[in-house]
Amino acid sequence: MTETQRTFVMVKPDGVQRGLIGDVIGRLEDRGLKLVAAKFVQIDRDLAEEHYGEHEDKPFFEDLVGFITSGPVMAMVWEGQDAVRQVRKMMGATDPAESAPGTIRGDYGLDLGRNVIHGSDHEDEGSWEREIDLFFDEEELVEYERIDEEWLYE
Ligand code: RTP
Ligand code: MG
Repeated sequence: MTETQRTFVMVKPDGVQRGLIGDVIGRLEDRGLKLVAAKFVQIDRDLAEEHYGEHEDKPFFEDLVGFITSGPVMAMVWEGQDAVRQVRKMMGATDPAESAPGTIRGDYGLDLGRNVIHGSDHEDEGSWEREIDLFFDEEELVEYERIDEEWLYE
């Protein structure tokens, strides 16, 4: 699968408080992914419930909504070849205790409920478009070329 895609990525409140925004952005930039939108915001309850709607019946839903609204987040859209799946691989497993070293969660997290980063789920077809639409207006997505693009892709 070598399709160019856009994916929704968010540094969660723990990542913001721990000063990890720069590192997360740096890793994605270094990989060759292109930042096409970014917004530093505090999510309200309605947006949190919609964003994590797939989990509304789960026992951890209340804690999840409470956590994601507990402080500012860095919401972004990143673009690149196979971007949705590649970002998930860079994030690591949902539970940082099971994430491989070298992944964002594996390098910076220890606890399932404090796992630093969100990325759209490549196994949930369409989740990335839904999440991008939830956080960004169409005109906030910037189209441009990175100068290294011809060296990133064959
Ligand atoms: P995310 O949506 O935040 O990127 O995380 P994910 O896809 O890797 O995992 P997901 O299944 O969507 O779960 C969303 C968040 O809920 C918390 N969680 N708690 N207590 C539990 O069993 C449990 N399971 C999931 C995690 O913080 C996870 O990131
Ligand atoms: Mg998820």
